[in-house]
Amino acid sequence: MERTLFIIKPDAVKRNVVGKILEMVEDEEFKIVQLKMLRIDIKTASNFYAIHKEKSFFNELINFITSSNCVISVLEKENGVSELRKLVGETDPLKSPPGTIRRYYGTDIQKNAVHASDSIENAEREISILFGDKETYSFLE
Ligand code: CMP
Repeated sequence: MERTLFIIKPDAVKRNVVGKILEMVEDEEFKIVQLKMLRIDIKTASNFYAIHKEKSFFNELINFITSSNCVISVLEKENGVSELRKLVGETDPLKSPPGTIRRYYGTDIQKNAVHASDSIENAEREISILFGDKETYSFLE
């Protein structure tokens, strides 16, 4: 079983589609093992997206992700990291296959509705940044 970090970004929260996006995730048999709404602060966002520090869009990215509330979650499923990336689609919603979250709810490459970890290693890092190391839950049958 793999855990991965999933963010519903400010554009999707403002569009009032949190429930619809979580429904897509649950329909694909992901278990929600952590869930909360928060406004990510600039320091945390800069650490979270440190890998993009040198990119031309870095400041824009930090401004956007900290602009309003996000809904962050930890999802669990077999091969969860790659399975969630499949469900999320491409970075650019217009290039995302039909049926993906970004195709349904994304607007452009920045307002692309959601973020999903791209590797098991990054999932652990991202979960630790946004939820801390101590706060762990299990899905109870
Ligand atoms: P995300 O999966 O959250 O990871 C990094 C984010 O950077 C990505 O989604 C996009 O929203 C954003 N991003 C990537 N490329 C660009 C770009 N060219 N312009 C603006 N934002 C971008």
